[in-house]
Amino acid sequence: MQTKRIWMAALALSVACGTMSAQADEQQESHGKEVYSMYCVLCHGPKADGKGKGAASLGDVRPSNLRISKLNDAQRERIVKFGGESVGRSAKMPPWGQALSADEVRDLMAYLKTLHGSADDGT
Ligand code: HEC
Repeated sequence: MQTKRIWMAALALSVACGTMSAQADEQQESHGKEVYSMYCVLCHGPKADGKGKGAASLGDVRPSNLRISKLNDAQRERIVKFGGESVGRSAKMPPWGQALSADEVRDLMAYLKTLHGSADDGT
């Protein structure tokens, strides 16, 4: 009986923790979306497909379609923080490490993950 009660308590606790971390994820993602719409939308566009209003003014280089980005998490964070030039790509992708706080970058990364394969690829 005692053992059963302990099991029940452990189960309840793990369910509660799961819910809490899901909520934390959601908060990060929605905050990330806000950060995105402030700093990234101009080039990458409201759908993150690389068709922002400012995209045409960049000349030959097109902002990436973030929905089909093949970068892994570390690579993505690197280009966001240190800019395109830091990874041998276009300097038209600016570095954001100074403008954004560590939390903003973390939440932005959480948001970008939700975009993956989630809708049209912009083609
Ligand atoms: C001034 C326009 C501009 C803004 C603003 C901008 N980007 Fe970019 N971004 C680019 C361009 C251009 C590229 C492509 C660079 C290249 O291909 O050499 C790019 C590439 C990227 C990539 C690489 C994707 C891949 O799969 O290769 C990521 C990730 C990215 N941007 C995220 C962001 C985020 C997050 C923000 C907002 C904090 C942002 N960008 C703001 C222009 C911009």
